[in-house]
Amino acid sequence: METTYHGTARAGDGMSQLRDLIYETCGIYFADSKRYFLESRFARRMEAVGAKSFKEYHSYLRHGSDRQAEIQKLIEEITTNETSFFRNMPQFQALQTLILPRMVAAKGAIGFKRLKIWSSACSTGEEPYTIAMILMEKATTLLAGWGFEIIATDINDQVLARAREGIYSEYAIRATPEYHKKKYFVAQPGGSLAISPDVKKYIKFQNVNLYDDSRMVFLKGLDIIFCCNVLIYFDQTSKKKVIQHFYNNLNRGGYLFIGHSESLFGINDEFKLHHFPGGVMYQKPL
Ligand SMILES: C[S@@+](CC[C@H](N)C(=O)[O-])C[C@H]1O[C@@H](n2cnc3c(N)ncnc32)[C@H](O)[C@@H]1O
Repeated sequence: METTYHGTARAGDGMSQLRDLIYETCGIYFADSKRYFLESRFARRMEAVGAKSFKEYHSYLRHGSDRQAEIQKLIEEITTNETSFFRNMPQFQALQTLILPRMVAAKGAIGFKRLKIWSSACSTGEEPYTIAMILMEKATTLLAGWGFEIIATDINDQVLARAREGIYSEYAIRATPEYHKKKYFVAQPGGSLAISPDVKKYIKFQNVNLYDDSRMVFLKGLDIIFCCNVLIYFDQTSKKKVIQHFYNNLNRGGYLFIGHSESLFGINDEFKLHHFPGGVMYQKPL
């Protein structure tokens, strides 16, 4: 797959340069078929900054005095943030019944009773909060005497602000078991639900761009990484780069979960593939 867009339809109108800039910034690849989607998103930002053409907007993003802030706003326009609690139930069952017991056995044997988990494209927070609830359920049994922390990151500051706030609609928690709804959510006036502060305290939200090498090299010592439903927006080259970082960031024996429709086939052959009922997971060899 190509990694730049020069020479595609209507080259020279600034559109392909804008798509290149998005790709270089965050690894997200927009095929020609997405042109109308992109045009409408660019149009909103162009109106906001007073740019009259794609070329002028591109120049603004490259050389404008607040170019970083504008790039952030553009990324917020073009990213897809759909998510929900317990989105991929078989994955969370594998975490609970397979991975946690294995991790406790392996790390417990060397006396290191801490788990570090990274939800790497966390959107509005449903994924890391789901992980926290699963760990909390084990806090007095399997994980008694263990510490755990969850780092939750995204490139989009708007979704991170909503994640920190932790207020959700009934729709976002539609797949959440009744038991967890009752135990970990507090009803709000108007029908929404707030995640309990007991769950919040395990999670640190941060802005991290998965395509930014300078940030990725610092996220070390991880036991489990979730990178779900974001690789689909990347091309092969950007997927390879991000997955290599995950490999380097995981402890030996650590696990990587990706989205149900995503695969590491042709991307990385260092991970060991494991099947579980309803999905797959990847392990960095011991
Ligand atoms: C569809 S959501 C997935 C949310 C959650 N992981 C799930 O599976 O339900 C994709 C998220 O990836 C984020 N994203 C896109 N490109 C990114 C990048 N380069 N670095 C970090 N996050 C990125 C988007 O902002 C969005 O919130």
